[in-house]
Amino acid sequence: MSKPHILVAGEHAAPPQLCGDSASMQALRAQISRIARCTAPVAIRGESGSGKELAARAIHAQGARAGGPFVAVNCGAIPEALMEVEFFGCRAGAYTGALHERQGLFQAADGGSLLLDEVDDLPLAMQVKLLRVLQERRVCKLGGSSDEAVDVRILCASQQGLARGVAAGTFRQDLYYRLNVIELAVPALRERLGDLEVLCRTILLRLAPRLAVMLAPGVLALLARHGFPGNVRELENLLERALAFADGGVITPDGLGLPSPAAVLPLKPVALERQLCLPGMGKSEAPVVPLAQYLCQAEREMILLALRQSRYHRARAAQQLGISVRQLRYKMQKLNLQES
Ligand SMILES: Nc1ncnc2c1ncn2[C@@H]1O[C@H](COP(=O)(O)OP(=O)(O)OP(=O)(O)O)[C@@H](O)[C@H]1O
Ligand SMILES: [Mg+2]
Repeated sequence: MSKPHILVAGEHAAPPQLCGDSASMQALRAQISRIARCTAPVAIRGESGSGKELAARAIHAQGARAGGPFVAVNCGAIPEALMEVEFFGCRAGAYTGALHERQGLFQAADGGSLLLDEVDDLPLAMQVKLLRVLQERRVCKLGGSSDEAVDVRILCASQQGLARGVAAGTFRQDLYYRLNVIELAVPALRERLGDLEVLCRTILLRLAPRLAVMLAPGVLALLARHGFPGNVRELENLLERALAFADGGVITPDGLGLPSPAAVLPLKPVALERQLCLPGMGKSEAPVVPLAQYLCQAEREMILLALRQSRYHRARAAQQLGISVRQLRYKMQKLNLQES
């Protein structure tokens, strides 16, 4: 019996990493390595599901505090009445029902990093208290009479960036200056569609570590046409659903539950319907071709797609592909691609 293609054994599955080979992801990882060396606050901006928390975790993991705790809190999800207790903790008897002394998020993150997700959702009254803690590096539990020192690296995340809240009068300018010392922007998935393949591979390995999963022809092209407003998280959900419908581990364009190519792009699907599987996982009907030929074909398809989607606007196509216009021109010549 022939052995199935086992991708990776579950026990060895790596923790989530910021993967992607596009220029913007490479730049992001390089920035993170630099940022990790210091302890200044970082304000991470990016669309929903784009990887802000993953970026924050990477900053923590690569820094001197890696051995300490990483605590993430969604500021938009805490009821206002509970915020002070959640952040700073409380003494026993501080309020009716507070039977025991409780640690807050700051104490929990002592010696490590605290990610304030959706920090722009913090009510103004809480912003004042947070500012005080950031300035003094001390917290006072609710009902307590003395401060205690905390050593926490503050990372925060928002979708729009904090300047917007300042301009709208919903975010304190003094807190903005405290938090926005280093800015980090996580690119949206649609701006780095060249990362789709490696993301699919990584996500599928995570979802089905013991299964040999294959993408049928046309899947990557169909995914590349989808706008991904929910970014990588949306891709994860989409693949999880598709995996449930995958027969024999093969994910088909139909199984993605996306509008068919014809409905999205009324163009002749020239190269798009050709074989495009995850490298190293080819099987059955598809003949094995030399790797160089396969890679050229995949490159050609993605370039054609980017050109078509940008209506042959080379600068936009190059940006989506995560390469320079000069590199695009060179590749088009090399692959004998004509603009038509
Ligand atoms: N570059 C990437 N490589 C691999 N997985 C990624 C990448 N970016 C994001 N993910 C995965 O996508 C999911 C969403 O990422 P994350 O929670 O970091 O996004 P977020 O920007 O914080 O989202 P939200 O705005 O909803 O808080 C996670 O499961 C994460 O592991
Ligand atoms: Mg998040």
